[in-house]
Amino acid sequence: KQIVHAQFLAAAAPGSSLPAPTMAEIAFAGRSNVGKSSLINTLVERKGLVRTGATPGVTRQINLFEARARDGAMFHLIDLPGYGYAKRSKAERTAWGDLIEGYLKGRITLAALVILVDVRRGLEEDDLELIQFVEEARDVQRRPVEIVIVATKVDKIGRSASRSATAAMAKSTGRKVINFSSVTGEGRAELWALLRKVTLG
Ligand code: GTP
Ligand code: MG
Repeated sequence: KQIVHAQFLAAAAPGSSLPAPTMAEIAFAGRSNVGKSSLINTLVERKGLVRTGATPGVTRQINLFEARARDGAMFHLIDLPGYGYAKRSKAERTAWGDLIEGYLKGRITLAALVILVDVRRGLEEDDLELIQFVEEARDVQRRPVEIVIVATKVDKIGRSASRSATAAMAKSTGRKVINFSSVTGEGRAELWALLRKVTLG
């Protein structure tokens, strides 16, 4: 195992706050049900660390996990509530939007934001807005937040279809896109290596 220890540390709902920023953080964002919580479990190689579910809207708070790598490095993993979930009330969506934006803007230890996109859907308006939001927040604060785009659920379609979908995503964003599956573990090692490099810096 590359991550030798991982545990839940804290949760924040609108109006409450997270523990002080004490170490490098990697946050995971994306539409509801895209597989954020599953990806964290896959990354840390622990099936039940984060609660996942078949229906959208499972993660309703910012959840913070503490992890320790094999080499002793410590960092935080941040599971963000998904966006684009229509069944929430407008007031609820606004409160969650503020919570997520507040986190992304204000967290001085944020080293990387992993944006998950369902390989079958490709990049949507919400995803592009998030990328733009983080780029602007980062430029204002002069913080080196690495944006990492991950195409998830690649096990659901054929290899050539997923290749062309991620190539389109890479082209439209000008960024590298990692193919990932929480079912097969594809992309886990590549993503971990990239995040490890980013959090070292
Ligand atoms: P919210 O917390 O609601 O925003 O969702 P989430 O993004 O955390 O998604 P979650 O990890 O809970 O996964 C949603 C559903 O997709 C679950 O039924 C998972 O089992 C499934 N899922 C997640 N990742 C994959 C994947 O790589 N492949 C397949 N086939 N299913 C996946
Ligand atoms: Mg979740």
